[in-house]
Amino acid sequence: MSTDATAAAQQFYGRWADFYDLLSRVTPGLGRLRARAADALALAPGDAVVEMGCGTGANLPHLRERVGPEGRVVGVDFTRGMLDTARDRIERERPVTGRNGWRNVHLVRADATEIEFRDPPDAILATFVVGMLADPAAAVHRWADQLAPGGRLALLDAAQTTRWYGWPVNQAFRGLVVASSPTGTDGYEAAPWTVLDDRVASARAALRERASATTHGEYAAGVVRLTAGRVD
Ligand SMILES: C[S@@+](CC[C@H](N)C(=O)[O-])C[C@H]1O[C@@H](n2cnc3c(N)ncnc32)[C@H](O)[C@@H]1O
Repeated sequence: MSTDATAAAQQFYGRWADFYDLLSRVTPGLGRLRARAADALALAPGDAVVEMGCGTGANLPHLRERVGPEGRVVGVDFTRGMLDTARDRIERERPVTGRNGWRNVHLVRADATEIEFRDPPDAILATFVVGMLADPAAAVHRWADQLAPGGRLALLDAAQTTRWYGWPVNQAFRGLVVASSPTGTDGYEAAPWTVLDDRVASARAALRERASATTHGEYAAGVVRLTAGRVD
């Protein structure tokens, strides 16, 4: 990511963290999609899972539930405001789940395209993130390289639908893309929704290259895609 794009993303998400968190909690069906994404990682109790671009931590409960108290969850994001909200979520969960409930959920402020792990995780998740990366294929290859043998990688993203009835859906989606883009329509080499489509597709092509036993599902009129695979 260029320095300008990184700064714009951090500024945008830092400013809108609370609103983003509210949206991510009240959008119908989103919780179910997050649960599906976590399921696609085929996590077992005791596993270590990393979420790249974890934002306000909406996926953390799903991941924590699957790895249990003996597992480990690490959320990585480069925006301080998003991580602050994620940290509040972790704090809120502690009393509910008991003294050691969420001691195994950690947040790291870092660039997800550069971070390296000393202990290879069993699984990596990225939801609504690869569309923000200048070179999503390189990021996916890097994440695949970081995984333990047999590790799983899952990507959940939105892009324009290819369904026959998609025209009105895509008009609405384009508006949403511009509204949720850190730079609006500026700084893209093509329309932002086309750039997003290309990045989402390119991340999936890289995942298919690296993974065996890939699964792919489409939801919300074909706008949301969940692709996962095991990296041997
Ligand atoms: C659209 S939000 C998605 C957040 C979360 N994954 C979710 O599903 O709600 C994208 C997040 O990715 C983060 N992000 C984008 N590029 C990143 C990078 N290169 N390294 C770390 N975080 C990144 C942003 O700060 C933001 O929090």
